[in-house]
Amino acid sequence: MAKVVITTSMFPEAVERLRAAGHAVAVHDGPLAPDARRSLAADALICPLSDRVDAELLEAAPTLRVVANLGVGVDNIDLAAATARRILVTNTPDVLTEATADLGWALLLAAARRIVEADQDLRRHGFPGWTFIPPHLGVDVYGRTLGVVGFGRIGQAMARRDKGFAMEVLCFSRTRRPEAEGALGVRHTSLDELLRESDFVVLCVPLTRETHHLIGERELALMKSTAILVNIARGPVVDERALVRALNAGRLRAAGLDVFEEEPRVHPDLIGMPNVVLTPHIGSATEATRRKMAELAVDGVLDVLAGRRPKHLVNPEAWPGKRNRKRGHGVESCGGGTG
Ligand code: NAP
Ligand code: GLV
Repeated sequence: MAKVVITTSMFPEAVERLRAAGHAVAVHDGPLAPDARRSLAADALICPLSDRVDAELLEAAPTLRVVANLGVGVDNIDLAAATARRILVTNTPDVLTEATADLGWALLLAAARRIVEADQDLRRHGFPGWTFIPPHLGVDVYGRTLGVVGFGRIGQAMARRDKGFAMEVLCFSRTRRPEAEGALGVRHTSLDELLRESDFVVLCVPLTRETHHLIGERELALMKSTAILVNIARGPVVDERALVRALNAGRLRAAGLDVFEEEPRVHPDLIGMPNVVLTPHIGSATEATRRKMAELAVDGVLDVLAGRRPKHLVNPEAWPGKRNRKRGHGVESCGGGTG
């Protein structure tokens, strides 16, 4: 019997699948307490992307074989430390792509049409009476230019949704995707060109050393003062203080932000800005999507505990044929593993 620790509230059906396979499951409603972090007795950890899975935690978990991250982004996990200890890391790509792109568009439209501001004013002050030039004049979306930074799964899903809006779509990405670019009628440009030409810029890159502060003071200055920035990637992809300065100075029209540089902290200036739409990192938060993510995480854990290679393995270097080696701290015990 293996021990699975889950550090977030979880759908009972997902927990039941682990128990039905004969595993002991402990569900915590939040991140591990400091004591538990110092000594984690678990074969598998299922955690949300808000948990920090660092070298210290991995070191304190001598029996750990797999970390299943409830999210596609794995910047919360020290992958090098996991790989060094032959701990497999899995994530939940694909199933959340469409929900996250929907949220990206929701932020884009809400910021363009000042929906949250108008809603709040109506609730506070009542319906103001119809006026030809109302206080909440927005900007057109139809026929404008959308710039997608990071043309992967979610970036392409953002681009696919432009069709009803007859937009010109530009993209900037590390690896060119000529087929997808052609099929979607998207033009690949440099980042600078994209920023200069786009009316809406949406960020869809993972957080890595290269993408940290990809959008800083210089990049914001390249954008049109009438442009809107949407961040559904990770907070630190944007230099938040530079963004606040640009918004305060009117060098950017508005922003739609689902992610923040120091979550759960939100820069206080952003809270006070009516031209910023804020959501608390809910890109993939639909019931159907979260259920699929839970199932994927459980699939991966069941696979590893049964010695099978999980489908969404983030660190394949930790897998093949090397599973009975001694680790730096204790001997790996991959029950049932065929390697
Ligand atoms: P993906 O399919 O891997 O797409 C990421 C794209 O970014 C790829 O095209 C990748 O290029 C590109 N990229 C990577 N590094 C780059 C760089 N330095 N410069 C330019 N482009 C770069 O991932 P995805 O499934 O679309 O998810 C993207 C990210 O969205 C996740 O990592 C996560 O952080 C975030 N996310 C947020 C939410 C939310 O709730 N807000 C939900 C889901 C995901 P390559 O092909 O060369 O790697
Ligand atoms: C959400 O932010 C994810 O990476 O899945």
